[in-house]
Amino acid sequence: MSDIALPYKKEVGEIAASLVQDGMIVGLGSGSTATCFVESLGRRVTQQGLRCIGIPTSVATAKLAISLGIELTDFIHHSVIDVTFDGADEIEEGSLNLIKGLGGALLREKIVAAASKKLVIVADETKMVKQLGEHTPVPVEVTPFGWESTAHQLSHLGAQVAQRWGNDGKLFITDGGNIILDCHFKEVKDARKLERDIGSVVGVVESGLFIDRTAEVLIAGSHGIKRLEH
Ligand code: 5RP
Repeated sequence: MSDIALPYKKEVGEIAASLVQDGMIVGLGSGSTATCFVESLGRRVTQQGLRCIGIPTSVATAKLAISLGIELTDFIHHSVIDVTFDGADEIEEGSLNLIKGLGGALLREKIVAAASKKLVIVADETKMVKQLGEHTPVPVEVTPFGWESTAHQLSHLGAQVAQRWGNDGKLFITDGGNIILDCHFKEVKDARKLERDIGSVVGVVESGLFIDRTAEVLIAGSHGIKRLEH
């Protein structure tokens, strides 16, 4: 399927890569926009001799980074990340809170974001919303054992819960060996409380609500690149 936003994703990916400075430890996001960033970063590494070390947020991003000649590290060697560039599924105007995880990498993405001095979101303008939950469900990563019970508890929070399936017709399994429950809420009025409530359900590993984590958003669209700061 063709992606009409691809030129925007490439543009914002290139701007993001230009912000990486020599010697930085960089969180490498997942998804199609983050892929554009990683590809641009790879070009800077191989063509301009930029020295940086990446921490990937998924197995797919790790493979991509290695194929592009980007050196990788892990949390044993580096516990603090200078800056992470990642995509998002929804970005709330004003708060810059996010829904992430439609690509299924939300757990590693949140761990990497939490270890970062700065989280910069790269996206195209279709991702901006007035209130989270407008277009997308809240992805919730849960342990496979007892998922039916976990889903039941999540439905008590007002969600219509759907198990995530992959494009191959098989149950979607995350890099951490868990499954994803997509939680459709009629409205997400208080995202901060919802993140806490979802997190307190036994069996939940992590939710795709990213509250107060974004420092900056780079949005690409017909107007060029817009920069929003928290
Ligand atoms: C993956 C994510 C991605 O960042 C999110 O899905 C955005 O992806 P894309 O840039 O392809 O729209 O959270 O878990």
